[in-house]
Amino acid sequence: MKRFLPVDQVARDSRFRWVRDSERAQDPRESDVLGNGNYQRAGRFSPASEEAPERTRRLMHGIFMGEVQALEGAGRTCFDFDTGDGADQAPYALKLDMARQCWDESRHVEISVKLAAWMGTEIGEFGEGRGLYEAACNRDPALRLTAVNRGIEGLAIDVFATMRKFGIEAGDPVLTFCEDWMLADEVTHVKMGSDWLRRLTADDPERRERALEFQRLVDKIFSRAGRGDSAEDARQYRRLAGFTDEDIDEAHQDLSPEEERAFRRKMTADARAVPA
Ligand SMILES: [Fe+2]
Ligand SMILES: [Fe+2]
Repeated sequence: MKRFLPVDQVARDSRFRWVRDSERAQDPRESDVLGNGNYQRAGRFSPASEEAPERTRRLMHGIFMGEVQALEGAGRTCFDFDTGDGADQAPYALKLDMARQCWDESRHVEISVKLAAWMGTEIGEFGEGRGLYEAACNRDPALRLTAVNRGIEGLAIDVFATMRKFGIEAGDPVLTFCEDWMLADEVTHVKMGSDWLRRLTADDPERRERALEFQRLVDKIFSRAGRGDSAEDARQYRRLAGFTDEDIDEAHQDLSPEEERAFRRKMTADARAVPA
């Protein structure tokens, strides 16, 4: 098996179609939530609104694809690196955490498939963005976990917390419990991202500084969703996941659209450098 598998070579059957973000924005079904460049940052919607069922189906399909890629990313981290304490290696204890994460993400994929059936969604009905997998191609395991676990899964916490509330308001116990169960695991996954950055760089101040710089940018991109009426929830879950109040406040300083675009490219640069 090949190490550092390119993003276009992940295993998918004919139901799935990979779409770039620019292409997704052209899909009229998706354009309303893609105005801000990130479907997970969709504006709040109420169970009473006419578009709520459709938007919920689409958002949950996006989450389902994220679960598949989170499983692939954690599995790749066990396989892509030799076991050890070097800068380009992954310690055995990290691989055990990633193996546990694979177990959780497999369960989330199963939950998401059942939830899709409950909501009347076909698998593959919406295109698949692969941003999470791209972030999971980073050559440095510390940065890989910072981007995927702390950043993208941190944002997933916001989505699960919001949709759990939405399920309660809508009187939908299936949606509510699915979100609640996935949320409980994601807090642990985000904490792994916060903890491993420190553990991997404990004896290397230069690597620590580079990783913290990367973490500050990741936080600014992915930690802003907890604004508005779910802000206090988001803050609470992030504290459980290893964020300090200082981290949370700093993350709420906006990046300009150019800065954000440039950093997203930087975050997934290793994915573009993987040989075919
Ligand atoms: Fe998950
Ligand atoms: Fe996760």
